[in-house]
Amino acid sequence: MIIKSAIIQKLIGAAKQAIPSAYCPYSHYPVGAAVLMGSGRIYRGCNVENSSFGLTCCAERVAIFNAISQGEKEIKALCIAARFAKPCGACRQVLWEFGSKDTLVLCIHLDPIRKKQRISRAKMSHLLPQPFNPSEAGL
Ligand code: THU
Repeated sequence: MIIKSAIIQKLIGAAKQAIPSAYCPYSHYPVGAAVLMGSGRIYRGCNVENSSFGLTCCAERVAIFNAISQGEKEIKALCIAARFAKPCGACRQVLWEFGSKDTLVLCIHLDPIRKKQRISRAKMSHLLPQPFNPSEAGL
């Protein structure tokens, strides 16, 4: 599936816009994310930390749960923006649940000092080649 570059730009903008909402008093590591869903709508999320550290939720999962809770079903693309942006393993599995092997993942690495950004992109099949697959597990 080809996603128009204007939509990609919107998705990147949404992920960056989510950064200031990050609740990260422990790590001081703000992350923004945005997902493009099957309907064409974009949903945002930021990381939400907790003093009981294990309860922290990554920006990607917050964005995905935001979309799913609004009745969306399918992820077409996800964008994450941070100093070093890469979805963690847990988020890759959650992404797999609502995406496909072709889901596009854009990573925006932000350099606040040089005020520069570097973008990398990958397909889901590359990021999570051997997912836990519910159909294989008989679930
Ligand atoms: N974090 C994310 O939001 N997404 C990731 O993919 C990796 C890490 C957050 C969790 C925590 O609030 C902070 O970054 C440092 O780990």
